[in-house]
Amino acid sequence: MNDNMFTAAGTAQATQQTIDGLERWRELNPLQQPTYLHADELETALTELRQQPPLIFAGEADVLTEHIAKASRGEAFILAGGDCAETFADATADQISRRVQTILQMAAILTYGGSVPVVKIGRMAGQFAKPRSADTETRDGVTLPSYRGDIVNSHEFTEEARRHDPRRLLEAYNTSASTLNLIRAFTTGGFADLRFVHQWNRGFLSANKNYKRYERTAAEIDRALKFMEACGADFHNLRSVEFFAAHEALLLEYERALTRIDSRTGEPYGTSGHFLWIGERTRDIDGAHVDFLSRVKNPIGVKLGPKATADDALRLAEKLDPNGTPGRLTFITRMGAETIRERLPKLLASVNLPHVTWVCDPMHGNTITSSNGYKTRRFEDVMSEVSGFFDAHAEAGTIPGGLHMELTGDDVTEVMGGGAEIDEEGLRRRYETRVDPRLNHDQSLEMAFQVAEYLTSH
Ligand code: PEP
Ligand code: CO
Repeated sequence: MNDNMFTAAGTAQATQQTIDGLERWRELNPLQQPTYLHADELETALTELRQQPPLIFAGEADVLTEHIAKASRGEAFILAGGDCAETFADATADQISRRVQTILQMAAILTYGGSVPVVKIGRMAGQFAKPRSADTETRDGVTLPSYRGDIVNSHEFTEEARRHDPRRLLEAYNTSASTLNLIRAFTTGGFADLRFVHQWNRGFLSANKNYKRYERTAAEIDRALKFMEACGADFHNLRSVEFFAAHEALLLEYERALTRIDSRTGEPYGTSGHFLWIGERTRDIDGAHVDFLSRVKNPIGVKLGPKATADDALRLAEKLDPNGTPGRLTFITRMGAETIRERLPKLLASVNLPHVTWVCDPMHGNTITSSNGYKTRRFEDVMSEVSGFFDAHAEAGTIPGGLHMELTGDDVTEVMGGGAEIDEEGLRRRYETRVDPRLNHDQSLEMAFQVAEYLTSH
């Protein structure tokens, strides 16, 4: 039996009703969509996109659903990380490998801390579309359309660059394909060997000012690895890891064109990535995004900001996960360090859905502008939201399922604080993000060591 192919036979199995349902979002006034000037250019791009092979297979999405279900029970921990906005220019071998490396390094530390498997997910190979609070941007008296991610327009501040260009849909697909190909090669070809990963972490420790604090954990991991080796553990099996791709399913034309019917089940799967999420700005219960994602079988996430009520969460769960399938629905809370301790325990107590997985995004509720004009975050606020997340779950008797981070493997200076004590002036040195500030490589590892401490103590 061919397990996970999307074929014409599969299409025949799906009912017309299922197929028609995938178009329903069009009647629901989808928010945050591009405005293309030429309908024929869009149609040409979509026709081509519909003919492209899927980027992921349904069976892989199902495996991820099972892993996320484990996280909902505390038998695994999710680590999702990557750029706020990927760019076509940064999809280079070096940058992709450094991002994957950073996630693997963090995962090794967290696996030790939590004594459970870490489910590794990249905000990668498809994170090209950004929701924006304003449709336009004004600089020196010139107003142009906002940058909406490389899948829509270019960041450069010219009229031509900011035009919404449907050919970018294909470039996003191709860039996702090559990124995913490289990720698959890295994570199965020996790069993920646990012993190497641990050696990389030792390199970080010797350079970090907070070395003392993390030394003990690192030494314990050392001993654990030696113990495994002495017991004859087969390290060959630890050379490859599962790694999944996730992005915000924002551009519904793109997601629709890459939604295919699985021949095994006759069910639709979004094949642009394994895990798809709905952002804070597009999670209206009657909106287009919720409708569309309610119809695909992937594991999905919904961001919940500080204003989300228990009623919002319950209605979203009812619509997106009516059967209460473990692993299907993840709530990604992003409340802000100040708010989480007050809001999250109450939300958890009133929602009370054990099959739902709760993940913490400690980034998006903690964005500030520095006095010299940079969009930034404080490392201590990010950490404070993470600790608030663990405390809230301990208080409510629920399971903290994982973390969702904006990070990069590069030595950028976008988030203030951390061992290198980046201050407002320091932000100038290497501020490269296209949208939101990311933890750099060192800050990411520092966060992993601190979270490992929470996991050990919770
Ligand atoms: C994001 O994850 O980059 C994002 C825009 O988040 P949110 O929808 O939570 O604001
Ligand atoms: Co962001």
